Amino acid sequence: MPVPGARLNYPLWRLTTESRLTPDYFQREDEEDDSFFYESPRLVVHIDERAIAAVSQCFKDQIPENSEVLDLMSSWRSHWPAGHAKKRLVGLGLNEVELRENPDLDGYVVHNVNNNPVLPFEDESFDAVVITVSAQYLTKPIETFQQVNRILRPGGVFIVSFSNRMFGTKAVLIWRNSTDRGRVDLVGTYMEAAENFEDIHAAFLNPEDSPPGDPMFAVVSRKAQAS
Ligand SMILES: C[S@@+](CC[C@H](N)C(=O)[O-])C[C@H]1O[C@@H](n2cnc3c(N)ncnc32)[C@H](O)[C@@H]1O
Repeated sequence: MPVPGARLNYPLWRLTTESRLTPDYFQREDEEDDSFFYESPRLVVHIDERAIAAVSQCFKDQIPENSEVLDLMSSWRSHWPAGHAKKRLVGLGLNEVELRENPDLDGYVVHNVNNNPVLPFEDESFDAVVITVSAQYLTKPIETFQQVNRILRPGGVFIVSFSNRMFGTKAVLIWRNSTDRGRVDLVGTYMEAAENFEDIHAAFLNPEDSPPGDPMFAVVSRKAQAS
């Protein structure tokens, strides 16, 4: 299903290839274990209200009601659309206080995906996985996306949305040095490299109010149906 907003026609604009994703691109200014940076809870939102509304609308459009959903790299807000029924929403993040404070979650796990990309969930246990304003912190994105594929049910949807804001010292070098459009391409490349995702497409979710608001982009794909 197309994502509403200005469709970006990934992969027509293809700047990155998997072969260019060398380890130095995933270096960060702050290479300390992520658990130190996220030790104190940050009960703040990382994007403005209209950007949040755009993400919620994207979830509503792309995730069927009564789904089992994983909010990967979650905090105290998941931006779940009001009134959109879900079977279960699980959060995985680094700060337990933030996760406990999240009113949308039905459960949570504290787990560091950069130390261990293996996600602590059964194969094919979710209908949808979302990563919201956090993909820039992944140092092993392809391994992490392969895990997302493993835990999705065939046909399940994967939504990676992001703006242009970040904790600069924790974002990987290739993200910091890319344009907005380059980041769309990069996330699509991660999905392709992880394999077994199909229908990869992208959209600029809120062209009508950004700027001056925070721009929101989403790259959306599906786990391939079993052959
Ligand atoms: C900018 S916040 C975004 C939180 C939330 N997704 C949202 O939309 O507001 C980044 C989140 O990524 C999570 N995170 C960062 N590095 C992580 C890691 N290595 N493993 C798991 N989660 C991580 C943190 O717990 C933090 O809550």
